[in-house]
Amino acid sequence: MAGIVLVGAQWGDEGKGKITDLIADDFDFVVRFQGGNNAGHTVIHGGRTLKLHLIPSGIMYPHITPVIGNGCVIDPAVLIEEMDRLEADGLSTHRLLISCNAHLIMPYHKDLDGASEHRLGKNEIGTTRRGIGPAYMDKSSRIGIRVQDLQDEHILREKIEAALSEKNEILEKIYGMPTYTVDQVLDEFRPYAERLKPHIAETSALINRALGADQWVLFEGAQGTLLDLDHGTYPFVTSSSPTAGGACVGAGVGPKRIDRVLGIAKAYITRVGSGPFPTELDDEFGRRFIEVGHEYGTTTGRERRAGWYDGVIVRYAVEVNGLTDLIITKLDVLSAFDTIKVCVAYEYEGHRYNTVPCHQTVFHHAKPVYEELPGWKTDITGCRTFEELPKEARDYITFIEDLADVPVSMIAVGPEREQTIMRRWESRP
Ligand code: GDP
Ligand code: IMO
Ligand code: MG
Repeated sequence: MAGIVLVGAQWGDEGKGKITDLIADDFDFVVRFQGGNNAGHTVIHGGRTLKLHLIPSGIMYPHITPVIGNGCVIDPAVLIEEMDRLEADGLSTHRLLISCNAHLIMPYHKDLDGASEHRLGKNEIGTTRRGIGPAYMDKSSRIGIRVQDLQDEHILREKIEAALSEKNEILEKIYGMPTYTVDQVLDEFRPYAERLKPHIAETSALINRALGADQWVLFEGAQGTLLDLDHGTYPFVTSSSPTAGGACVGAGVGPKRIDRVLGIAKAYITRVGSGPFPTELDDEFGRRFIEVGHEYGTTTGRERRAGWYDGVIVRYAVEVNGLTDLIITKLDVLSAFDTIKVCVAYEYEGHRYNTVPCHQTVFHHAKPVYEELPGWKTDITGCRTFEELPKEARDYITFIEDLADVPVSMIAVGPEREQTIMRRWESRP
């Protein structure tokens, strides 16, 4: 085993940070391959709680090389602040590598993210307003500014000039917003360039060399399958590919390098921002998920929307990612319920859908078909083996496993590292 991809199987915030940190010790590299500081990954390690937005969750281990891959978009101010925060906490960031081909989030990207959301009004996506979409738009339009451009101020100036000639018109004429001068942006970016230069590398070559030498590489996804630009609930998605295929493109490795694909799902489901959500609960049960599960966004602090576990969505995630394993987190939160519902299919206009419907109208109006399972109503946060769990909790996991048709390899029963049941994980010899 050498190349392992870890992705979110729902709408993000599944606990990717906790699980990455939990298994990271076995790896030589931990690589972020898409997204930017829209992500918020919580890691509780050595009594400290870290909220990571850009830096891979393996940063706590001195033997790991953390990599921000080519598929990411980087706000340099946020990255530097995150590095400073870790350093102040006694965690070295000198090993951090940043792909020369990753794109930069520029000040106008953040302005345009906010402005376009404002313009959409009630149809807004509910983005994190971190400039993610506009940065990926420029990447696709081939007017993006890349990390490698920080290495040569002459080129950086030319590229900013070219981008501003279009962006200033959009800012001024469409949105009535202030514009930028080249010098203004350059003055801001000069110190970022100096600080980040020592970390810039051809990371794809390094990762491939490591995999060729049988080193272990963990590809840490951000967001989740249903937020994928192609496979998610478009247009209520992010602008990158958080699915497993994105790891190959966003890190620069071939698909044959991937040995195992881990999908993380909560024992229920949450979503931040707008968009369809068949099992969403607007009632006291929904509130209980938010209160017991502390469901507030790690990046924006927004209250998350919450609902019962959606087996149709996770089965879909198994397919589009080629999941080999499912990891269930936050099982402890379900201890608060007498009975527990699981969505096994949808219904719309008399038809039953066992898979995610192709047409968005059907998905928007789909009514969940539930199976109800007994709860266990006892504290399970101290359980460390599957056998220690109450029978009802074991049955719940088995039910989910059968629905997804992949093994549930780990079960998290609390936010701490050790609050995890390992069922199918062989540590590196
Ligand atoms: P990520 O974006 O996928 O890394 O997830 P977030 O960090 O945004 O959100 C997950 C939250 O759940 C964090 O606050 C974690 O500390 C917490 N968490 C993770 N696993 C568990 C668990 O098994 N039980 C409980 N109660 N909390 C958990
Ligand atoms: P992690 O990695 C949950 C959501 C936003 C919005 C949509 C588009 O912590 O799981 P964007 O700013 O990306 O253009 O917003 O995607 N979103 C997330 N939701 N967890 C995340 O990351 C998210 N990153 C983006 O709320 O609905
Ligand atoms: Mg998160």
